[in-house]
Amino acid sequence: MVRRLVVWMAALMLTGAMAQGEIEIFSWWAGDEGPALEALIELYGETYPGVDVVNATVTGGSGVNARAVLKTRMLGGDPPDSFQVHAGQELIGTWVAANRMEDLTDLFEEEGFMEIFPAGLIEQISTEEGIWSVPVNIHRSNVLWFVPGNLEEWGVDIPADWGEFVDSTCPAIQAQGVTPLALGENWTHNHLWESVALAELGVEAYNGLWDGSVLFSDAEAVAVWERFGQILDCTDDDAAGLSWQQATDRVVAGDAAFNVMGDWAAGYMVTTLELEPGEGFGWAASPGTDGVFMWLSDSFGLPIGAPNRDAALDWLRLVGSQPGQDAFNTLKGSISPRLDSDLSLYNAYLQSAAEDWSTNEVVGSLTHGTVAKETFMSEFATVMEIYLSTGSAEAAANAAQAIANQTGLGQ
Ligand code: GAL
Repeated sequence: MVRRLVVWMAALMLTGAMAQGEIEIFSWWAGDEGPALEALIELYGETYPGVDVVNATVTGGSGVNARAVLKTRMLGGDPPDSFQVHAGQELIGTWVAANRMEDLTDLFEEEGFMEIFPAGLIEQISTEEGIWSVPVNIHRSNVLWFVPGNLEEWGVDIPADWGEFVDSTCPAIQAQGVTPLALGENWTHNHLWESVALAELGVEAYNGLWDGSVLFSDAEAVAVWERFGQILDCTDDDAAGLSWQQATDRVVAGDAAFNVMGDWAAGYMVTTLELEPGEGFGWAASPGTDGVFMWLSDSFGLPIGAPNRDAALDWLRLVGSQPGQDAFNTLKGSISPRLDSDLSLYNAYLQSAAEDWSTNEVVGSLTHGTVAKETFMSEFATVMEIYLSTGSAEAAANAAQAIANQTGLGQ
């Protein structure tokens, strides 16, 4: 890794004038979520010593707060130099549609990104007019986490599907005074819901929700909410007050048996809690989704009007480079989308994720910006609240369909 880094930095030195001044990098990777970004920023400092990086973070898992702050800044004509944005609809349906981003096609050509990133991923960050961000990772949404030794002690197996979870796993765990499934604040409910929807609907109908060929009001989609309600009965009453890290902590402490969370949880457990993958924690595809990889990708873009454009372009060069991606992803719990990624640098969890990424069927995440316009995604929080306050699958399904119609989902 060191040799590759030196070669890469030497190549950069030959490319001419170095940017100066300051750049502001905006994201929601604060606190426990910070180490991977900090490693990338440190590498930027070594590579471009003339530039100071302001690491501007707004706390809140899955960007719930950061996106709102970003919106105010972008609309107020005060963009950061570069910001975190999910590949897919969160990027294309929002900032690209509003004509607020610079086309990065030249950068992609100069840096060889056209050949090094999978074509399917480039498609997710492109329109006919250009390429709009540089992906830094691939995360997986549909992962079930647990502590292998605890399951053994409790005599519990990994449930194959949600039916098994509800009918036998959940009562068996509850009988031992342990919470079957840890859960956290509102967005983590949405996160769980997308894995339940994938399991109950299957790949084709799950995809159908996003292209409009399946309606939220169809019987099979209403049934997802019914199943979801049964699963919620296996979670803690105080879940809504917990961050995703605190929900993960409950599993690690043995207070809960399972958690469905994206694999940033692996980053947290390895990098922050210093647990060994396979021993300190185990993983499986969330129930009923074996063989399917629900993906999302964090990326960085260049807003029109970035105060230090040259330095921001250098940031994007680093974000897409092999040294940058390896410094970041080995800590983050995600894999590098680069086709030349050196898997020997990655831990056992990440190696298994890389294997699944290249062999599984792949579908996009709702909660993390891949498949649906942001307007739909943020309104989905209201749908969830309707479900939580009424307990009515029909009411939630109808509300979701109304929002799909209003926001033009699938069009
Ligand atoms: C996702 C993001 C991940 C991680 C997670 C929890 O939306 O893509 O990188 O930060 O939120 O905050």
